[in-house]
Parts: sequence; structure tokens; C-alpha cells
Amino acid sequence: MNNLFQKIVSLSKRRGFVFQSSEIYGGFEGCYDFGSLGVELKNNIKKAWWDEMTKNHENIVGLDSAILMNPRVWQASGHLTAGFADELVECKKCHHRFREDSSGSGKEKDKCPDCGGELTKPRKFNLMMKTFVGPVENETTTTYLRAETCQGIYVNYENVLNSMRMKPPFGICQIGKSFRNEITPKNFIFRTREFEQMEMQWFCSPQDSTKYFDFWKKERLKWYLNLGIKKENLRITEIPESKRPHYAKRAMDIEYQFPFGWEEIEGIHNRGDFDLSNHSKHSGQDLSYLDEGTKKRYIPHIIETSVGVDRSFFAFLVDSYQEIKGGRTKTTKAVKEIEILLKLHQKLSPIKVAVLPLVRNKPKVVKKAKEAYRILKPHFTVQYDELGSIGRRYRRQDEIGTCFCLTIDFESLKNNDLTIRDRNTMKQERVKIKDLIEVLNKKLNK
Ligand code: GAP
Repeated sequence: MNNLFQKIVSLSKRRGFVFQSSEIYGGFEGCYDFGSLGVELKNNIKKAWWDEMTKNHENIVGLDSAILMNPRVWQASGHLTAGFADELVECKKCHHRFREDSSGSGKEKDKCPDCGGELTKPRKFNLMMKTFVGPVENETTTTYLRAETCQGIYVNYENVLNSMRMKPPFGICQIGKSFRNEITPKNFIFRTREFEQMEMQWFCSPQDSTKYFDFWKKERLKWYLNLGIKKENLRITEIPESKRPHYAKRAMDIEYQFPFGWEEIEGIHNRGDFDLSNHSKHSGQDLSYLDEGTKKRYIPHIIETSVGVDRSFFAFLVDSYQEIKGGRTKTTKAVKEIEILLKLHQKLSPIKVAVLPLVRNKPKVVKKAKEAYRILKPHFTVQYDELGSIGRRYRRQDEIGTCFCLTIDFESLKNNDLTIRDRNTMKQERVKIKDLIEVLNKKLNK
């Protein structure tokens, strides 16, 4: 596996971004836990997306629907049939199973990646995760963990329309966990069995669907660029009919250039009237909309934008990771080392501010630093660190993308001030402690 990939995995564990699930029991394939910095980064990504949808656009409202739903939802959505299945191949020798596209390329394609054995012909494998509800386990109590959050939006379409007095065109957005029994979870948090999605469903008239598909594709691409993803690492790909999901009339993927190649981070789909028509048919509830202008009824068409939180998290980490040989400061100790800098967008950085007393053996300096830390704590995610040389502490913070390091030195005792060091430029300026919150708010565009 590629060097950068290993470095991201190692940084994630070392600094508390991502851990293997149930690690002390040897892990649990396809599941990951997010550590203390990981959960901050994840929350920041979700907040940036939620704000984008509900504040920067008009006519979008939120929802938080249940993960477990009536199993008839999944019959209506087409997820229980071959439409929501991957091609599975099995090794005739070691009996390991793989997604067909995971078993290598060229000549290697027909061989088991683990033992080189012969593979069976592909067969369909449904990805829905089954469970039982209530005290009896049989077919009548079987339901599924949701495989996409949007089905919760479709079954609440009328509730939201009526309770919020919406009219097409309008959107409903939701963030939540989804589950897929992936045959071959792989590439760290890229393909997992439990993951989180941020989905927005835009309900519009059939004639407007092409216009809105183009609109949302552009808007979604802009979102990543505005959060600092490099243009050259993003592209958008039209999905040919043969590879489109069963519900989509048209599909485009926003792809990111990961260390293992270009891969999807978000799907933009024109789902036509597939979802509301099928839910009308299966539930017996008429989900058509009466256009008051034309006095005609129609089933709204849906444009969907669907991002994986975990995949975009991975992309943000990879994109912001930099190594500087010899370090950025040319002090004696630093010269030989490699400095890691996580140049995350300020909105995404898990820690906004670190407070560092210049020395830890002078009680007055330590006391002042702790005072500054307590002042800042209710306003920002802030860390206090007094261990090691000041240079090392700057590096520890640069490695996790902390926006600003504040240093309390001997002058601070006289002047009631401190230095603010900018992560990207390493420039330092002195600021009075009484002005600190205002200055930091301005620097962080809060
Ligand atoms: N509602 C449409 C839908 O679910 P999708 O293309 O299957 O579309 C959307 O999934 C996004 O969800 C993907 O672009 C990806 O970011 C994320 N995703 C899907 N399966 C995933 C998995 N097994 N692990 C992590 N993320 C996944």
C-alpha cells in the first residue's frame, strides 16, 4: 500500500483521529471508531455541510429519521432485490469471498488475491443488513438497518411538506448512520460496513429536474473547494447507464484523488419520480402534489446529493497532509526531522487554539497560561500543553492542524499579553489577554 496512505492511517491512530473498532479484541472488519480529535473533525465537517444546506440555501429544512423502519420501505425502494447487490466471487481453494472488482486486474483478475486459487463465477449478493425487532426472531420480525438515509426523507416527505408549509422546489436534508454488508470493506475508512451519510433530497417539478441537477452538481463541487480541497484532486464523472444505481435516471460522482486512485466521495443523482411513485404504490398513500397555479397533480422529481462523512473526512485528511523535510524552522534540533503539517481549513480544524506556557518550571508563567486557557475554553476547542520544548509543542499542534498557538512568556507577566502564532505562516504577534476572544473570533471568521 502507498506510503501516504500508511502515513494517514498511522497519524490517525497516533493522534486520536481514528481507531480500529473493538481493537483489543483484534478489531471488527469494516467498522472504525473516531477518537477525540476525529469526533471534532467529523462534527466540524457535518456542521459545515448542515450550515451550507440550511443557511446558505433557501428552502431546505432538516430531518432526523429513525435508522430502523418498516421493512416495506425497503421493498418499495428496491433495496431488497438484485438492484442493491454487488457481484460476489468465492475462492474455490480458501473460500474467501470478494467483491468482483476487488480481485485484481488483468490476468490476476481470475485469481484469489489471498492464495492465488481459482475463483467462482460472480453471483449477486444483497448488501442490506438484517436484524430482528421484538422478542421473536422470524421472517415476520425481520427488518433492516437503513442502507441510505434518504428513505427516511421520502417516507416523511408529506409530513415535512405540510408541517413546514413547503412547496416544490424545496429540499430536506439529513445526516445519519447507514449500514451496508459490504463484501470487501477496504482502504481504511473508505469502504466500511457502518458509515455516516449527509444527504439532501431536492423535490421539484419534472420539467425543472435537469436544471436543478446541473445546479446541485456545481454547488456541491464548490463546497469542497471552499473548504480547501485542491482543485486538481477533485473531478466529476458521469456514470454510464450500465453502472447507475437502480433508482437513478442520471448520476454523477464527485471523485477525489486518494492515495489509492480516483474514487467517489459523493453521488449526485436524478432519481426522477422513482421513490415517491414507489412509496405511493406500496403504501397506498397518494404522494402527488397539486400545483396551485396549473391545478395539475404531479409526483415530484428528486435530485439527490449524497456525501459520505467518513469518505470526505478521509479526503480532507489526505488533502491537508504535508511533510516538510528538515522542518520549517531551521533551529539546530529541528533540522534533521520531518515536520508534519495538517493544513486543514480553519472551520474543520479539531483544535482551534493551543495555550503553551514558554516554560513549565516558573509557577507565575504557568498560572498565567492556565488563566488564558480558562478564558478561552467556553469559546473555542482549546488544548493546554506544557510538556517538552516550545518547538516540539508547536510541531505537535501543527501535526493535528491547530489554527493558533498562544505562548505565555516572561513579558506576558508584565504586560498581560501573549503571542499568537499562525499555523500556516508561523508569524507571531503580541495581543493583550483582554482582547484575545475578539482577536481570535476575527481570525477564525466566527
Ligand atoms: N442515497 C444515495 C446513496 O446512498 P451511494 O452512492 O450509494 O448513494 C453515497 O452513497 C455516498 O455514501 C458515497 O459517495 C460515499 O461517500 C458514501 N458511502 C457509500 N457506501 C459507503 C461505504 N460502504 N463506506 C463508506 N462510505 C460509503
